[in-house]
Amino acid sequence: MLHITRIAMQHPLYQQERELRNKILLRPIGVPDYGWEMNDSKSWHFVAIDDAKVIGCVLLVPLDENVQIGQLIQMAVDHHWQGKGVGKKLVKDLVAFAKTKEFTEIVIHSRAEVTSFYEALGFKTFGDEFEEVGVVHRHLRMSL
Ligand SMILES: CC(C)(COP(=O)(O)OP(=O)(O)OC[C@H]1O[C@@H](n2cnc3c(N)ncnc32)[C@H](O)[C@@H]1OP(=O)(O)O)[C@@H](O)C(=O)NCCC(=O)NCCS
Repeated sequence: MLHITRIAMQHPLYQQERELRNKILLRPIGVPDYGWEMNDSKSWHFVAIDDAKVIGCVLLVPLDENVQIGQLIQMAVDHHWQGKGVGKKLVKDLVAFAKTKEFTEIVIHSRAEVTSFYEALGFKTFGDEFEEVGVVHRHLRMSL
């Protein structure tokens, strides 16, 4: 049965999380496997699990020393599971967790094609388009 949990990098499921990110986020845009892990050690990792397999993930990384502003990064749901509410559950859990940690704001660099996914969850788009890893992105934020 599907459930969402938070894991540390020492957890055996972390390797599955990395593979999912390679497959869903990095390879399709030509970034080498394991090429976007510079924030992993300082992030909280949320994974969606079905039948002992990681089928979705998202990370929350604090952007400042006071841990008030966090960035949602590395949002990915496996192909077969997309459109079934997994992404929504992951973001809701991450936001609920950020509130317990007294974050005041969550920001996102969203691929331009998926901003409406985040907007439906309460994030607001702001600023101009920009390019990151060769893909057009938009800024989004949510005050907590
Ligand atoms: C974008 C992504 C994370 C969404 O996760 P998901 O589990 O497929 O989304 P959900 O099923 O929870 O959808 C929640 C809502 O967002 C909508 N939605 C889903 N994918 C969307 C997309 N790509 N663009 C716009 N809206 C989208 C759904 O229609 C749904 O709306 P509803 O509540 O009215 O039915 C997932 O499709 C994915 O991993 N895509 C590839 C990687 C990617 O683009 N990651 C984001 C990088 S910024």
